[in-house]
Amino acid sequence: MPPRTVNPKRIVILISGRGSNMEALLKARLPVTVEAVISNVAAAQGLDIARAQGIATAVVDHRAAGGRPQFDAALAAEIDRHRPDLIVLAGFMRVLTDAFVERYAGRMLNIHPSLLPVFPGLHTHRRALEAGVRLHGCTVHFVTPELDHGPIVVQAAVPVHAADTEETLAARVLAQEHQIFPLAVRWFCEDRLRLAANGTVELDRAAAAEGALVSPSADR
Ligand code: GRF
Repeated sequence: MPPRTVNPKRIVILISGRGSNMEALLKARLPVTVEAVISNVAAAQGLDIARAQGIATAVVDHRAAGGRPQFDAALAAEIDRHRPDLIVLAGFMRVLTDAFVERYAGRMLNIHPSLLPVFPGLHTHRRALEAGVRLHGCTVHFVTPELDHGPIVVQAAVPVHAADTEETLAARVLAQEHQIFPLAVRWFCEDRLRLAANGTVELDRAAAAEGALVSPSADR
């Protein structure tokens, strides 16, 4: 899979809140055009960050949609207006219907704050501390119908310290989220990463050498 010279990929970013992962993607100078940032929450802080950078934003309010299938249909209609090559879930806190996920199969990436497959779902940092794991981290994966279970693209591992609180651990993980999410989006947009028909992740040799596992030095 040698990198090809093509038009920049069109991406749409979905957020629900703070938007720090979105901001990391915007700062990373990726070879993409960010066509829109879409949120299910009108008050999401990340929308202001996007607007300040002149990026088109939209809100599809899940509470106004009348149900999960209706929300997903409205969201898909908004996404499709932008004809994206890739949909990036950057802290998008909605469970999606199978139909929605299948519509974007192989072109939707999510960041999750744990070393999947452990700790899918919510409260990952609290659960990591309760479980006493010595390593925690984050994962970028392709989205498939089973929540937080899609094929893994890249992970970063961080140590868990004895004195950690949920907040200190979350901050250590978040710093790594901001590293690996732009990396994975770059690989996809440079045609160096794809989801094969059999459901496995294919990375070209250079991307694989950059590291599908990122392990920062222990003091970070
Ligand atoms: C991140 O930890 C992400 O992994 C999780 O939700 C958080 C969103 O943070 N899904 P932000 O909105 O990107 O700052």
